Amino acid sequence: MSELFGVEGKVALVTGGSRGIGRMIARGLVAGGATVYITSRTGSEETAHELSKEGRCLPLKADLSKESGIRALTAELRSAESALHVLVHSAGTHHVASLEEHSAEAWDDVWSVNVKAFFRLVQELLPELKAASRPDDPARVIALGSADGARVPQMDVYAYGASKAGLHHLVAHLARRLARQGITVNAISPGTFPTEMLRPALERWGEETVMKQVPMRRFGEPSDIEAAVLYLVSRGGSYVTGAILPVDGGLALR
Ligand SMILES: NC(=O)c1ccc[n+]([C@@H]2O[C@H](COP(=O)([O-])OP(=O)(O)OC[C@H]3O[C@@H](n4cnc5c(N)ncnc54)[C@H](OP(=O)(O)O)[C@@H]3O)[C@@H](O)[C@H]2O)c1
Repeated sequence: MSELFGVEGKVALVTGGSRGIGRMIARGLVAGGATVYITSRTGSEETAHELSKEGRCLPLKADLSKESGIRALTAELRSAESALHVLVHSAGTHHVASLEEHSAEAWDDVWSVNVKAFFRLVQELLPELKAASRPDDPARVIALGSADGARVPQMDVYAYGASKAGLHHLVAHLARRLARQGITVNAISPGTFPTEMLRPALERWGEETVMKQVPMRRFGEPSDIEAAVLYLVSRGGSYVTGAILPVDGGLALR
């Protein structure tokens, strides 16, 4: 199984790996035999402890809204590993507020974590990604985009929707720039996974109404996202770059 995954013995960093979608991704990579570093501001220790029952998972604490957090994280990773085969940026934040109340602080926070941190991590970790790259097996960078970056969001998430559309664009830009350096850059664009981030929508409209928005009439499950990531990091994904892969049951089609 792990040969099919192609992550056995590789090193991965999953931001936002403490919970939600990041945790699902980290679990899949750990089960595939990778050494997986997970980061967040809180909760990574507990998650790493749980995931370590299946393999190798290590916690790193970082606030990615701050440049100091990004520098500390990359320095810590660099002191432990000389090569990084997989970088997944799942850390993300959103802010729900009306047009009149959508604050400048919310814009700064959302864009710092969702877009700027992704760019800065790729920039800082380029030497380690290049060190991991092989001619037939490129290093892989994956960002978590969103269906809200591909359509007008239902909720009042102005900064968030724009940040995810920007992230999709940045993925394409970096993919083009890094293709000749043996690094693929792709995005997975989830729809509705019942995590902390979906809570405001579930509280406002209820589960049934939210689910009715999804053409396939179900929420995303851990195996949906795990398998999508494992495809992108496997042999099958080695010739794929600049893709925005919807894992949303058709949500963005609406
Ligand atoms: N759930 C969905 O249906 C859905 C749909 C579309 C897109 N997405 C995207 O998928 C990704 C994961 O979402 P999720 O649903 O798993 O959200 P979540 O459950 O809220 O998890 C967010 C993760 O990001 C971390 N994080 C937030 N702010 C951070 C900061 N300043 N510094 C470092 N880490 C930070 C959180 O840890 P701490 O708070 O402890 O730092 C947590 O680990 C996000 O990029 C999101 O936009 C999710």
